[in-house]
Amino acid sequence: MKRLVVLVSGGGSNLQALLDAIADRRLPATVALVISNRVDAFGLERARRAGIATLCMPLAAAASRIDYDTQLAEHIARARPDLVVLAGWMHILSPAFLDRCPVKVINLHPALPGAFPGTNAIERALAAFRRGEIAATGVMVHEVIPEVDAGPVLGTAAVIILPTDDMTSLSERMHTAEHRLLVDVVANIVT
Ligand code: GRF
Repeated sequence: MKRLVVLVSGGGSNLQALLDAIADRRLPATVALVISNRVDAFGLERARRAGIATLCMPLAAAASRIDYDTQLAEHIARARPDLVVLAGWMHILSPAFLDRCPVKVINLHPALPGAFPGTNAIERALAAFRRGEIAATGVMVHEVIPEVDAGPVLGTAAVIILPTDDMTSLSERMHTAEHRLLVDVVANIVT
C-alpha cells in the first residue's frame, strides 16, 4: 500500500476526500502523516479523528525559512512516504525543501494552469468573469517546482462560472471539483 504524507493549512476538506476514498477502497493508499503549519487547522482534527499521526510545524518556531523547509523535508522523509500531497498548504516551499524531499510532491490549486497563481484564485476568477474576461475557471493538480502554482500538470477540471455565482456558490463547486480531481490524480499515481 502506497504511503501518503498530506500537508494542510486550513479546513482539510481535500484531506477528507482522500480519507473517504481510502475508507471506501476507491484509493489504494494509506495516509502515514498529516502536517500543518497552522495550529488551528481543522485538517489536523480530521486526521486525529481518523487515527492518523499529525505534526504541527508553525513557521514562527523555526530559526529561518531554510531551517523550516529543511526540517519539514526531514520529518517527511522519516514517515517514508511514496508521495507528498499539498492539499490547501499555504506555505511556499523553497528549493531547500524540494531538494531534500525524497519523493514527488504534488499540489492542488483552484485555477487552471497558468491562470491565477497564488492566493485568492477563486475571487480573482470571479472578478475576471464579471469583467467579461473569462467564462469558466477550474482546478488543477500539478507537480511542485520552485515556481508557485506551476509545474507539470497531472490533471485539470473545468468549472463553469454562472452569472448568479457569488464566492460561496462558486467556491462550493470548486471544492467539489477539487475533491474529485485530487482523488483521481492520487489514485492514478499510486495504482
Ligand atoms: C483549496 O481550494 C485548495 O485548492 C487551496 O486551498 C483550499 C483548501 O481547502 N489551495 P481545504 O483545506 O482542503 O478544505
